[in-house]
Amino acid sequence: MTDRAIIVGASSGIGEALARELADAGYEVGLAARRTERLKAIGASLPTKAYVATMDVTDTDDARRGFRELTDAMGDVSLVVLSAGVGHVNHDLEWEPERETIDVNVRGFTALATAAIEYFESRPSADGHLVGLSSVAALFGNGGAPAYNASKAFVSTYLEGLRHRQASRETEVTITTVEPGFVDTAMAMGDDDELFWMASPETAAAQIARAIRRERDHVYVTRRWRLVAWLLKAMPEPVVRRLVS
Ligand SMILES: NC(=O)c1ccc[n+]([C@@H]2O[C@H](COP(=O)([O-])OP(=O)(O)OC[C@H]3O[C@@H](n4cnc5c(N)ncnc54)[C@H](OP(=O)(O)O)[C@@H]3O)[C@@H](O)[C@H]2O)c1
Repeated sequence: MTDRAIIVGASSGIGEALARELADAGYEVGLAARRTERLKAIGASLPTKAYVATMDVTDTDDARRGFRELTDAMGDVSLVVLSAGVGHVNHDLEWEPERETIDVNVRGFTALATAAIEYFESRPSADGHLVGLSSVAALFGNGGAPAYNASKAFVSTYLEGLRHRQASRETEVTITTVEPGFVDTAMAMGDDDELFWMASPETAAAQIARAIRRERDHVYVTRRWRLVAWLLKAMPEPVVRRLVS
């Protein structure tokens, strides 16, 4: 049987690299984001069948409708990856970047996560696998990007909530939280030279694909970020503030 996956946020960065990784492993992929031409070009370069859906996740009703149309077109989908996200350095606390971050990373994310769970629970097999891209940024408040870190804390906690909800149900939906450190994409904040442990999108995608195969609840990408996460959780807030602000 052919495996089929939808990736929301597949037009660049980690989502694009994961689409390539999954297609190489035999998946047919549904590629969703706003930049249709990029999605079509990526789809055309894959070794398996690709489907393209243009969607802006901030238009939540339209995005949820687009998601349903995509599952209808693909026939059956066992894996949904939510990679769409934005991040802004915003020391001046301007409203527009904060608003966009909440719209994409919180409202858009939740609109698609609920659509994916609804879809999996409606499958005859009542199963599936939802993967959400959070960040190590979820672990601390950031004076330079307050909405971004807070939005990723929402994503991580929301996915944890879905796992708890799943535990008391008869359906078999796997939920994986991905928390990357720095990945070399358009989104990485700061100068490349400043950022340590920067991974390529391909390395990130390979580690995410492995976590998917192993049906992990949670994965740091790259794995060494587990150490940073441990330190961030252990350190008192004033120490974290001196390190990250
Ligand atoms: N790069 C890092 O260092 C890093 C670290 C930790 C976590 N992450 C997370 O990883 C995920 C992927 O980021 P990336 O690094 O791969 O960045 P990226 O290359 O900028 O990719 C972001 C993706 O999100 C899509 N997107 C943005 N706004 C959208 C909207 N309104 N509607 C639909 N799609 C939208 C973009 O597509 P369109 O513009 O075509 O719509 C693009 O496909 C994000 O959730 C990010 O927070 C990244």
